Amino acid sequence: MDKKTVYSGIQPSGSLTLGNYLGALKNFIGLQDEYNCLYCIVDMHAITVAQDPKLLRKNTLDVLALYLAAGLDPEKSIIYIQSHVPQHAELGWILNTISSIGQLQRMTQFKDKSKKSKEVMAGILNYPVLMAADILLYQTSYVPVGEDQKQHVELTRDLAQRFNSKYSDTFTMPDILTPKSGARIMSLQNPEAKMSKSDSDENSYILLLDDEDATRRKIKRAVTDSLNSMAYKDDQPGLKNLINIYSSFTGESVENIVSKYEGQGYGVFKADLGDVIVEGLRPLRESFKEIRSDKSYLEKVYKEGADKASYLANKTLRKVYKKMGFIPR
Ligand code: TYM
Repeated sequence: MDKKTVYSGIQPSGSLTLGNYLGALKNFIGLQDEYNCLYCIVDMHAITVAQDPKLLRKNTLDVLALYLAAGLDPEKSIIYIQSHVPQHAELGWILNTISSIGQLQRMTQFKDKSKKSKEVMAGILNYPVLMAADILLYQTSYVPVGEDQKQHVELTRDLAQRFNSKYSDTFTMPDILTPKSGARIMSLQNPEAKMSKSDSDENSYILLLDDEDATRRKIKRAVTDSLNSMAYKDDQPGLKNLINIYSSFTGESVENIVSKYEGQGYGVFKADLGDVIVEGLRPLRESFKEIRSDKSYLEKVYKEGADKASYLANKTLRKVYKKMGFIPR
């Protein structure tokens, strides 16, 4: 039987955080043998907020190098840049014509982002439709992402369903794939909010490219509580988040971690967690520099990736156009 398809993407908007890693990137690696995987750098999503062109260029290549440094293998997976495959924008437009504005306005991310800007651009509203196009172009079965993308994957299913019932079976129904303990990594300073690179407080996130000292320092400063009792509970959200991070890196169960550190102060746990993260990210941090400096290798990877992705994207798009009544050239 043919292998099923896995699809995911990350925006090149600044350096990636531990949340991006534990919620998404880390899980991409293990899927490569069992599935046909496509991993995209979604630059067309990134421009839904203002971007400095120079920085966008740099960040796009940074994310590509991070993908490779984390263990994505271009021999196994299709790794490419979204804007190199124009079929994404084409299918995005088609899907916009069957998307309800009301449904898009109800997306939590849209509500959050539009609250923060004076003038709300249409791209922010339509962004989940482009994400649906990314996923549906490749007949994807599984989408490995963090929990914050759940609503967008549900919208993707709605759009697939709507198109399929109007024009006959065309798109595969995708399912979300979230990790057990890293699906929602919270801010280290405000455990009620998601860890995010757009946070103004640098101590709230760990970047994959932070150095070891900064990594340990940020964990040491992470907000916990005054109960000083090792437990995994909703009323100790800071500690719960740190235990989740520990568990994501080591694979140890939450219960094990709690009992291991029971009776010891948070300081001991935090110091060990600092080591766990530093060791866990060491291979990635070490190989990033070398890969990032090899421009011709990066170019080879994204060009070959775009060729392979375009071929697959075209197959779906041709079907879509034909079913809708467009005249083929
Ligand atoms: P983006 O770029 O915001 O985030 C990339 C991935 O990181 C996950 N993530 C987190 N996971 C756990 N805890 C966190 N604090 C955290 N912060 C981010 C996100 O869930 C995501 O998996 N719309 C997407 C990109 C996208 C995409 C796609 C994903 C575009 N097209 C098609 C899958 C399939 C986004 O903005 O992710």
